[in-house]
Amino acid sequence: MFNLANAHRSIRSFTSQDIDDSLLNDILMTGLRSSSSGNMQTWSVIVTRDEANKRRLYELHVEQEMVLEAPVVLTFCADVFRMREWIRVNDSRQSFDDLLGFLTGTVDAVIAAQTISLAAESVGLGICYMGTTWWAADEIIDLLALPKGVFPVTSLVVGYPAENPGLRDRLPLALMVHQEKYHCLSNEEIRAGHAEREEKAWARYTAVDSVRQRLAEAGITKVTDYYTSEFKYSKELHRRVSEMLLETLQAQGLWL
Ligand SMILES: Cc1cc2nc3c(=O)[nH]c(=O)nc-3n(C[C@H](O)[C@H](O)[C@H](O)COP(=O)(O)O)c2cc1C
Repeated sequence: MFNLANAHRSIRSFTSQDIDDSLLNDILMTGLRSSSSGNMQTWSVIVTRDEANKRRLYELHVEQEMVLEAPVVLTFCADVFRMREWIRVNDSRQSFDDLLGFLTGTVDAVIAAQTISLAAESVGLGICYMGTTWWAADEIIDLLALPKGVFPVTSLVVGYPAENPGLRDRLPLALMVHQEKYHCLSNEEIRAGHAEREEKAWARYTAVDSVRQRLAEAGITKVTDYYTSEFKYSKELHRRVSEMLLETLQAQGLWL
């Protein structure tokens, strides 16, 4: 388990080899064993194998090639619909159609996604998460016919790796782990803690000629510029997606 977890790297290029149905089923079964709030398992996963559906997902996931290459795309959803349906048929008192229900489902879905990721990796498959799930949540809901109470929270592409990338750098553990109370870092600690990231991520971004040129033209000279630029997670993107998410959560009955 230690070796498996410590060998993780995202895979974004896949061979044409399909994933056997029974193997995929075994992998998905491990998600069932995940902890979940109240053992309600307020998550669902939509399996996409169909080429036309994958093409539409590819468009929604900002044309990330890996969506077309991977034999399977998994969209993990917070799902209080199923729980509410069970409550309905039993004539019990309703609940869960609110922000807390959404957060409960989101945590359950992400825990299951990570269990399933590790299971997939343990049999030689590669995975990559897609944060673009949030960016197109409204259209993914339409494509996957998600009823009220179901909301897409993350997606995975899964397939046999056609690349063998090295391990990516990580921030030092001390930045994430706090003893007893949260420790706000000093400027010095921030610089020291991020030095390796600044160097390695910048080297990776600028290794490709076209990217280096684009960054130079946009006046981007460091990793933090890049993170908040139009090429990655700008404030404008965050505002636009946040507004859409709020509206969509309300439409899906997952707000107050
Ligand atoms: C929630 C989440 C969303 C992500 N979204 C994307 C994505 O849309 N496209 C992509 O290429 N990688 C995506 N990734 C993969 C990260 O870029 C990757 O995990 C990170 O750079 C560390 O690299 P590693 O997984 O190879 O160690 C995502 C990862 C997570 C956890």
